[in-house]
Amino acid sequence: MTVKIPESMTAIAITEPGGPMVLKPEKRAVPLPGAGEILVRVRAAGVNRPDVLQRKGAYPPPPGASDLPGLEIAGEVVALGEGARRWSVGDPVCALAPGGGYAQYCVVPASNALPVPHGFTLTEAAALPETFFTVWHNVFERGGLKEGERFLVHGGSSGIGTTAIQLASAFGAYVITTAGSDEKCAACLELGADRAVNYRNEDFVAVVAEATQAKGVDVILDMVGGDYIGRNYQAAAVDGRIVQIAFLNGAVASADFSKLMLKRLVHTGSTLRPRTVDFKGAIAAALERQVWPLLAERRVAPVMDMIFPLRDAWRAHERMEEGQHIGKIVLDVE
Ligand SMILES: NC(=O)c1ccc[n+]([C@@H]2O[C@H](COP(=O)([O-])OP(=O)(O)OC[C@H]3O[C@@H](n4cnc5c(N)ncnc54)[C@H](OP(=O)(O)O)[C@@H]3O)[C@@H](O)[C@H]2O)c1
Repeated sequence: MTVKIPESMTAIAITEPGGPMVLKPEKRAVPLPGAGEILVRVRAAGVNRPDVLQRKGAYPPPPGASDLPGLEIAGEVVALGEGARRWSVGDPVCALAPGGGYAQYCVVPASNALPVPHGFTLTEAAALPETFFTVWHNVFERGGLKEGERFLVHGGSSGIGTTAIQLASAFGAYVITTAGSDEKCAACLELGADRAVNYRNEDFVAVVAEATQAKGVDVILDMVGGDYIGRNYQAAAVDGRIVQIAFLNGAVASADFSKLMLKRLVHTGSTLRPRTVDFKGAIAAALERQVWPLLAERRVAPVMDMIFPLRDAWRAHERMEEGQHIGKIVLDVE
């Protein structure tokens, strides 16, 4: 099967570093898939906090990546690069993109794509890759979370947080989370969190101590940083693992490091985007084996906040920056 591919497409460009209004539709050439890559006719693209940072000029795309924003997509395969054997033209896929997701067509490495889970719409599927790859690697591979362990995730209502709560709970962990309002906390409990802390009026260190009979939590996924760094050391259990994926409240902090030594803590972190295609392909394979069956059974599903048309990407960014969203914001692509 072959599909007619136009020469140009509509994409959303970052015309200059700045606020949401710098995101503007532009005509761009449709990219061509290279060896090991596939071209996808994008039907939906997920919006992530790193896109906001890129728009502000604080998170430049890695060398070789598209300058267009967009780290995850879903759509149909329309062309195959040399050696991209797994897929056929017409296959519905969702994929982690190195960039360029806010567009009608996007090239992705074949190994970084996954089948659309059974029963999922393309809009839902576009909400999966970025948070599922990130949570899988940081919570389960890096943090080593196991069944029966206690897990704390900050920012529980975020795209990352809603995924982390569901996966940790599905794999048998006791889940505590923090969020900035009672409404967000209620949503986290619905997703499977055992305890949700509204950090505006409760201290998560005290709640963790009470909920774990002073044992502490085995794994912490943190995107906040700042004074949470020292407080995470307090909340962690002996041999606890703390995984840092962002520093929304600052990367410079003072903390009592004696806890690190006395509790034998491991404090680590990572960023997904600059990792190699093969590294991301290995995460994709693990997700397909271990998590895709849970999605097909709807034991885990993306939490959909709002959907905007591609041309209104600026409104999607505005929504994310207002901070009222729960779960994922997605762009529908005509
Ligand atoms: N390292 C990696 O590989 C990787 C990959 C993907 C994403 N990330 C990072 O993970 C974080 C979550 O991403 P996302 O796409 O899920 O974003 P998101 O939905 O916008 O989540 C951000 C969350 O952080 C909470 N928050 C706490 N302090 C904040 C502050 N000072 N400013 C803004 N929000 C604050 C917000 O909720 P409250 O109302 O509860 O405060 C919000 O739920 C982002 O920082 C992103 O850059 C890292």
